[in-house]
Amino acid sequence: MKLCMIGTGYVGLVSGACFADLGNDVICVDKDSNKINSLINGQIPIYEPGLSELVIKNYKNKRLNFSTNLKKSVKESDLIFICVGTPPKKRSNTADLSQILNVTKKISLAINKFKIIITKSTIPVTTGDEIEKILLKKNSKKKFSVVSNPEFLREGEAIRDFIYPDRIVVGSNENKSNRILKNLYNPLISKGATYLSTSRRSAELIKYASNAFLATKITFINEIANLCEKTGINIEDISIGMGLDKRIGSRFLRAGPAYGGSCFPKDTKAIISTADKFKTKLSVIESVIKSNENRSELLLDRVYDILNREIKNKKVTFLGVTFKANTDDMRDSSSLKMIPALSKKGAIIKYYDPTGYKKEFSKIKNVYNSDSIKQSLQGSDLVIVHTEWNDFKSLNFKNLVKGKKFIIYDMRNIYSPEKIKKQGFKYYSVGR
Ligand code: UDX
Repeated sequence: MKLCMIGTGYVGLVSGACFADLGNDVICVDKDSNKINSLINGQIPIYEPGLSELVIKNYKNKRLNFSTNLKKSVKESDLIFICVGTPPKKRSNTADLSQILNVTKKISLAINKFKIIITKSTIPVTTGDEIEKILLKKNSKKKFSVVSNPEFLREGEAIRDFIYPDRIVVGSNENKSNRILKNLYNPLISKGATYLSTSRRSAELIKYASNAFLATKITFINEIANLCEKTGINIEDISIGMGLDKRIGSRFLRAGPAYGGSCFPKDTKAIISTADKFKTKLSVIESVIKSNENRSELLLDRVYDILNREIKNKKVTFLGVTFKANTDDMRDSSSLKMIPALSKKGAIIKYYDPTGYKKEFSKIKNVYNSDSIKQSLQGSDLVIVHTEWNDFKSLNFKNLVKGKKFIIYDMRNIYSPEKIKKQGFKYYSVGR
């Protein structure tokens, strides 16, 4: 079986490299020739632990290749994975399917023998039906099958998530495609991954419902953390106590800043838009979106309180600015709201992130990138631990900055309050 991944973004590149590593012959296609040339030269456009090694290894052993020629690549392949972006439309919550539909039209002209067209991109319910309709205009029903196989990869953990998935979901309305896909995933199934075969529409919805549920879980614990702060309770005890109930589970119960990233904010909005289209209401998810949007304001207000509401000329350090650790992704990171708001009130901000300088802050007044943790802390009045990078977890602030005592606001609860207070620093965290 020859595989063709269309789109070499996060989903296409990680999945393509992993499929190649499992012994498949994979061609990754992108219309961006600069990107394809960089990949051929072993340069990976995204920060993802382990991905570079995997791409280089499989390119060298000729199982993984790159091309800008979609038509030729589709013709030569049996399984076509659509992995292009589905960002939100401007000024609307609806997913923009233009890239999916464009690619489908191109595939439609290149079908020369039976192909399985598989959507890995996150797509609203019934998109598979639309893809099928487009393909039927130029091809007979016997020539193709449209399948939904959503990805559940977390940034920073994507390779591990691909190799050891909690589940593999394949939504197909035909047995033949289902059998072929099951065979493709067999190396993972034989290592214990659960394979779930469903209807195509179910697979499309499983992806959105899962992300919306995880976003709900985080938002729930964030609101409980607000209550803990008012009542002198430690949120960690609550997360552990709740998580021990097997019906709830302990993961995704870490309180912190508003959730961000490329998926949760966009997918929660897109599922609401799907519900609108089908004239039903998802009021829980609507509240989650609202609560998460308010969260950055809430945490900022706490920052103002910590600084006694005197923000002008205060020196504030951000440790980490990405939406979570192990990624360079800034999409919907809460730092994008917090840093400009503090700058507007006259604060002077330094930030240090292990993935370096961020162009997002280049036009914001008095915001400076630091090359080291130590440099970022010099002269600071308040240090905000924004992202839970391992690099920050064992810092000895007392040794790093001799003499100066700043306040620490640990938005990820990575430190023990007792230990930090012992070092002589005033310390605040979330929900405790
Ligand atoms: C997510 C899904 O987990 C993945 O299955 C999907 O396919 C893509 O979207 P990702 O966006 O990479 O993955 O990040 P994830 O690790 O899920 O975290 C999302 C956000 O939630 C981050 O802002 C993170 O900091 C936050 N989060 C996560 C919490 O605040 N608390 C938690 O307990 C877990």
